[in-house]
Amino acid sequence: MKRIAVFASGQGTNLEAILEAVKSGGISGEVALVISDQEKAQALQRAQRWGVKALFINPKEYKNREQYDQVLVDQLKADKIDLVVLAGFMRLLTPLFVRAFPLKIMNIHPSLLPAFPGLEGVEQALAYGVKVSGCTVHFIDEGLDTGPVILQEAVPVIQEDTIETLHQRIHASEYRLYPTAIDLFCRDKLKVEGRRCLIID
Ligand code: GRF
Repeated sequence: MKRIAVFASGQGTNLEAILEAVKSGGISGEVALVISDQEKAQALQRAQRWGVKALFINPKEYKNREQYDQVLVDQLKADKIDLVVLAGFMRLLTPLFVRAFPLKIMNIHPSLLPAFPGLEGVEQALAYGVKVSGCTVHFIDEGLDTGPVILQEAVPVIQEDTIETLHQRIHASEYRLYPTAIDLFCRDKLKVEGRRCLIID
C-alpha cells in the first residue's frame, strides 16, 4: 500500500476529494500525512477531522527555501512517504526537494497546460478568451508547471462565466481527475518516457 503525503495551503477541497476516494476504494493507497505552510489552512482542519496526521511547518522559522525544503524532505522520509501530492500548495519547491522525490511529486493545475501556467490559471484563461480550458495533473520537475502531463480534462468556457463559476466547474473536474491519477500511480500504472507519461496495463 503506497503512503501518500498531501501538501495544501488553502481550503483543501481537493484533499477532501482524495480522502473520500481513499475511503471508497477509488485510490489504492493511504493518506499518511498532510502538510501545510499556512497555520490557518482549512486543509489542516479537514485532515484532523479525517484522523490524518496534520502538520503546519512554518516557513518563517527557516533561513531560506532550501532549509525549509530539507525539513519537508526529512519529515517525508521519516513517514516513509511514496508519493507527494500538491493540492493548492502555494510555494515553489526547490531543486533540492524535487531531486529527493524524482517522478514522485504530482500537482494539479487549473488549466490545460502548457497554456496558462503559474498563478491564476483560471483568471488567465478567462482574460485570454479561450472557449475551452480545464485541468492538468502532472509530475513536478524543476520548472514551473512544466513536468510530464499525467492526465488532462477539458472544461468548456461559457459566455456567462465569471472567475468563480469557471473555477467551480474546473474544481468539479479536478475532484475526478486527481484521484484517478493518484490511483494509477499507486497501482504502478504510470511510466514516464521523456516528456510522455504512459498508462500501462
Ligand atoms: C485548485 O484549483 C488547484 O488546481 C490549484 O489550487 C486549487 C486548490 O483548491 N492548484 P483546493 O484547496 O483543493 O480547494
